[in-house]
Amino acid sequence: MHKSIFAALALSVGMTLSAQTNEMVIQTKKVGAEIQPTMYGLFFEDINYGADGGLYAELVKNRSFEFPQNLMGWKTFGKVSLQDDGPFERNPHYVRLADPQHAHKRTGIENEGFFGIGVKKGEEYRFSVWARLPEGEKASKIRIELVKPNTMGERHAFANAELTIDSKEWKKYQVILKPGRTEAKSVLRIFLASPNTVDLEHVSLFPVDTWKGHENGLRKDLAQALAETNPGVFRFPGGCIVEGTDLETRYDWKKSVGPVENRPLNENRWHYTFPHRFYPDYYQSYGMGFYEFFLLSEEIGAEPLPVISCGLACQFQNKDMHAHVPVGELDCYIQDALDLIEFANGDVNTTWGKLRAEMGHPAPFNLKFIGVGNEQWGPEYPEHLEPFVKAIRKAYPGMKIIGSSGPDSEGKQFDYLWPEMKRLKVDLVDEHFYRPESWFLSQGARYDNYDRKGPKVFAGEYACHGKGKKWNHFNAALLEAAFMTGLERNADIVHMATYAPLFAHVEGWQWRPDMIWFDNLNSVRTVSYYVQQLFALNKGSNTLTLTMDKKNVTGAEGQNGLFASAVWEKADNSYIVKVVNTSDKAQSIALNFSGLKKNDALTNGICIKLRSADLNKDNTIEEPSAITPQESPVNIEGHIFNAELEPHTFAVYKFTKSQK
Ligand code: AHR
Repeated sequence: MHKSIFAALALSVGMTLSAQTNEMVIQTKKVGAEIQPTMYGLFFEDINYGADGGLYAELVKNRSFEFPQNLMGWKTFGKVSLQDDGPFERNPHYVRLADPQHAHKRTGIENEGFFGIGVKKGEEYRFSVWARLPEGEKASKIRIELVKPNTMGERHAFANAELTIDSKEWKKYQVILKPGRTEAKSVLRIFLASPNTVDLEHVSLFPVDTWKGHENGLRKDLAQALAETNPGVFRFPGGCIVEGTDLETRYDWKKSVGPVENRPLNENRWHYTFPHRFYPDYYQSYGMGFYEFFLLSEEIGAEPLPVISCGLACQFQNKDMHAHVPVGELDCYIQDALDLIEFANGDVNTTWGKLRAEMGHPAPFNLKFIGVGNEQWGPEYPEHLEPFVKAIRKAYPGMKIIGSSGPDSEGKQFDYLWPEMKRLKVDLVDEHFYRPESWFLSQGARYDNYDRKGPKVFAGEYACHGKGKKWNHFNAALLEAAFMTGLERNADIVHMATYAPLFAHVEGWQWRPDMIWFDNLNSVRTVSYYVQQLFALNKGSNTLTLTMDKKNVTGAEGQNGLFASAVWEKADNSYIVKVVNTSDKAQSIALNFSGLKKNDALTNGICIKLRSADLNKDNTIEEPSAITPQESPVNIEGHIFNAELEPHTFAVYKFTKSQK
């Protein structure tokens, strides 16, 4: 619509437009590309204690006594010895608690948990342990306590229970603890309560009330936060941990399935990646393994997207090619990829499909996507990727394969890898950008001229890393929203986008900013979380063209710091417009829904805003709702909506089309 006609229309509804009004024309007549169900999703990695000590609800650290220092995380007292001929082949260590031989003496162990053990008053916690009586021993009692040692209170223990160990064979015992008070940092104490000797292995404590009630379950508040982002895709298990510091420590999915007691320990590279945030007790128990990842994907309604090793260990950490698998020796890595697809989708009569069924999920997980390699680069990456592509295409022609464009958002490696990914005909290319404000402000049009013929884009890891402010704050999230309007406008080529990293423990982080923070009892959704959520909940089914002076609104010069995109939602015939004002001035905007018929009415108008007077602020554990989306009804006269958009504001406008 011409500006002159628009002005006349505006005047006809009794409104005066200033010269500065930013008129955005939304073409309602021509519905654009379909927005993929996978468009907005989640990227999960066990970084910042995201899995063990985080989403994985196990409260005991080093439960199988397999850390290289076998008693790390444990205190022992009395006659405790470490044994190594236990019942679980891949976790052979256990402890023997021997009779202290005096009625007043004690033998036992205490676990410190992850930054303490957090428990809530009135909730139930399932303690379990594998135990047996050594040869010649009689039935023995152990006492289990939740203890707060550093207190002036009369009693240290605030929850307790007893178990009688009565079997000479290894057996799982369990009992429920119900603490009478809330403690963020307690310890779990287990000691002999009768004069005998017992063997203990795989000592575990879980809240009963986990996400969906699974016994080997996930922390409910954290999983719930994931579900509430309405994710279309769930990428796992990383990130750099896919690759490993060396191939020995890569994420080996086959070790992460089957009975939890027999899943071996893996080193977590984030334990030592940043010497200034060194966590010597950071390991991967694989308790939350590939089965649990697939199940979670299903339960939060997201397509699972596993990423597997391509035989290249982390290239940042290994400059020497000897650290990697030679291309000619990739067979077992390729087999791992094929077996993974069988694990997810195979019939229950196949080897891996059978294991999935035994673990509780006979129905296939319906895996459609697989990533091969994380942030790999150089000629060695396409060389390694090629045989995977061939083998996967041959066995599973419908599987969508995701390749990587390396760790950089542009530049030499990026420019080399994209054509290589096209040559190999991967389906999507994973791009990563942890970049400062200036980059986000300059990338509104990034995808407008991408080649439409090649692979699609997976913006697989991104977050605004503020210059000198590499932590969560409002402005960083606002610029992520600005950038995302460009993803949305180009949904014909951008099929997936996942912010990263997802989780961080306030006492255990290595990398900031992150989407969700937590401590042992609470969690907090950052403004970046709400940005992701607003896009995902207002995703729409198809793109619509939105222009200002016939140009895309990308924060370009002369566009007053505005970024915008528009979509149509088929389900309720609504129009959704996202506008981000990154400037420090209020902006008059006019949303002109062009192409509607005279008797088409735009009704049920709502506006959801994210804003903060303080650009450096974010939500915290102490103040979790400082900045949250605020929704209000808005009226539109005719087909043009006028508003004054405050400085530094992300707004989502939604109107339903109906007949007058
Ligand atoms: O998200 C943190 C890390 O950033 C990921 O592990 C890696 O892929 C990237 O370098």
